[in-house]
Amino acid sequence: MINEKLLANCLWLGGSGDTDELAAPELFRRRVFLEKRPDHAEWIVAARGLISLEINGKAVTNELFLPGWSDYRKRLPVRKLDVIGLLQAGENILTVTVAPGWYCGCISRGNYPGGKVAYGKKHSWAGELHWHCSDGTAGIVASDSAWEYADQNSWIYSDFYAGEKRDYRRTPEKFFPAVPVTAPEQPLFLYEVPPVKVAEVLSPRSVDRNPDGSFTVDFGKNIAGFAVLTCTAPAGRLVTLTHGEVLNPDGSVYTANLRRASGRAEVIWDGEQHTYRPEFTFFGFRYCQINGVDEIGDIHAEFVTSVYQQCGTFECSNDLVNQLYKNILCSQQGNSLEIPTDCPQRNERLGWLGDIQVFIKTALYSFESREFYLKYLDDMVLCANEAGDFPPFVPFNRPEEFTGSAGWADALLSVTWELYRFYGDKEILRRYHQPLSKWLEHLNNTADNFIRSASRYGDWCAADTSTPPEFIATAYYARAAQLLADIAGIMGETALQEQRNILAANIRAAFVNKFTAAGQLTIRNQSAPVFALSFNLLPENMRQNALNILLEDIEKRQYAISTGFLSTGLLLELLSRFNCGEVAGKILTCTRCPSLLYPVLKGATSVWEHWDGIKEDGSFFDPKMNSFNHYALGSYGAWFYEYPGGIRMREPGFRSVRFAPEFLPQLQYVNAGFRGIKTHWERRDDGIYWEIESPVPVELALPGRGETVAPGKYSGKCQ
Ligand code: BGC
Repeated sequence: MINEKLLANCLWLGGSGDTDELAAPELFRRRVFLEKRPDHAEWIVAARGLISLEINGKAVTNELFLPGWSDYRKRLPVRKLDVIGLLQAGENILTVTVAPGWYCGCISRGNYPGGKVAYGKKHSWAGELHWHCSDGTAGIVASDSAWEYADQNSWIYSDFYAGEKRDYRRTPEKFFPAVPVTAPEQPLFLYEVPPVKVAEVLSPRSVDRNPDGSFTVDFGKNIAGFAVLTCTAPAGRLVTLTHGEVLNPDGSVYTANLRRASGRAEVIWDGEQHTYRPEFTFFGFRYCQINGVDEIGDIHAEFVTSVYQQCGTFECSNDLVNQLYKNILCSQQGNSLEIPTDCPQRNERLGWLGDIQVFIKTALYSFESREFYLKYLDDMVLCANEAGDFPPFVPFNRPEEFTGSAGWADALLSVTWELYRFYGDKEILRRYHQPLSKWLEHLNNTADNFIRSASRYGDWCAADTSTPPEFIATAYYARAAQLLADIAGIMGETALQEQRNILAANIRAAFVNKFTAAGQLTIRNQSAPVFALSFNLLPENMRQNALNILLEDIEKRQYAISTGFLSTGLLLELLSRFNCGEVAGKILTCTRCPSLLYPVLKGATSVWEHWDGIKEDGSFFDPKMNSFNHYALGSYGAWFYEYPGGIRMREPGFRSVRFAPEFLPQLQYVNAGFRGIKTHWERRDDGIYWEIESPVPVELALPGRGETVAPGKYSGKCQ
């Protein structure tokens, strides 16, 4: 919510001038004398950059990367923090450190220091501390000229891509009056989204000493966050922590795939014991190589994320499949950091829309994240161009690269739709209906006789790239028109619904006309029939033919997969919908390359960007594009809950469900759960035994059953 009054009386404070180099976080302080300990106190802060706050030497919050990210060209986030426990009667020292972060770090400078800035060159902050006592006395400590600015501090730089460098020997020597900088023109909005926090602390699984004396620590899974090291080292000694996702054959950490990101934290020690923990950066890693210490002191890793409340579970008789499922969860948490990102490690970490567009349904099954995505929908709306089209990633900071692309520009629609379905709140549809309608208008205006071609990224990372851009773009166009017709219907706008139904039918007719001949799809691969059938683009009499094309290709590849970012999430669901569960099960359990389980066999603990990120001979895929933590190819995750797990939504918001488990022949048992619903089935000699416990009404869609029952626990047996 934009609020005109927020911080209206504050000065914005920044450090020494603009810089094109990697900038140092800057330190500000102010002494405040209070007669009494206040009964209420709240610090309201904003920053162009990242901010960390202390009162009397104690951190004000354990939330990370404050005040958050959005389209800074349009709005700046403001945080309100309760600080009552930290103030005391007498003197208090308030400290603020402000760092470049998403505002003016490399991520917003076209990837490198000195690059073209998207928002501004200089980090700065503003804030007001409000306090009052029960006797009525009260005060405000605003950012004003009474604040002081330190000549230096231990940070040399801290940046999302470049990593961090600190020198513990450098402490402030002098303080100068803080210099006000120009206040931003952008409005401020109160940020009320679950913050980034440490969700998990990981102990080392192993610590190995390398021939060069360095140590390699394995934390057991590929996360976003950092290693935290407590040790002593002689004054002047450089200690380096290099974070990476995989290892080189010699046991050192592989960093080539980080591209222009460093993965590195460098610390010059001062002879004392310190716990080193980065504050304004994070890394994507499983391993950390430590150079410069004689002995590893105490080390652990912290997994940071914005989504921490798991709401879905899945477990079955196949351990490799269980690991696959865990990998999807891990990549979701590692790529939900303030915004949904593509990957957490290389010089990207951006909100690529195609990735969340395909992953949203899986995301909502696994972690409670309504507020996280609602805020992101607002970010998307802010980033639309005048025509109503959407950029490839959001927040968007490279205006010259604006291209609306099928599957990427559809994210506002898919995320809005799934949030509505998962939470059953029509208000969500109403809130985004206007920008969605404008976007559909844009698609109409730029289509050529109902055919569209804007598919810059195609079915990204597919092993078979033979589905042409017009096919994908027109398929998505038809899907958008139909879904927006359905949305108009749900909102009670029947005339609009009818108009969009006609539009959708026209696009489907144009699609059939262009991409089929003699009742057959003309493109014979996996993804073309997947799009055509999943988006219901074909008339009844052509569907079996399309399914046959898909089944033939699957058979030809012996259950290996050739789908990319856009079609992988649709494949298993489609097979299950068309009663080909056995084939879905064979795809699920196939271990040939490329397949879902192949990365698991290669030791994956997260979802890879490429099916063959590590090739069969152990070599790596091209380092220019080889993330080991990219959830897009894990977007079939929703299928686990719905088909083998059997939990299908019957009414929006899961106000009632259908229990319709698919008893995959490849599995002996399955346990699944979602928001208090628990399901189980297992094979025994005399049949399949099933169970469901549900807090909402359930339709028992099982052989020989079919009745809808009240909330409760039910069990039975099928042959
Ligand atoms: C990102 C993707 C993204 C893509 C667009 C990549 O560099 O990592 O996840 O969707 O570009 O094609």
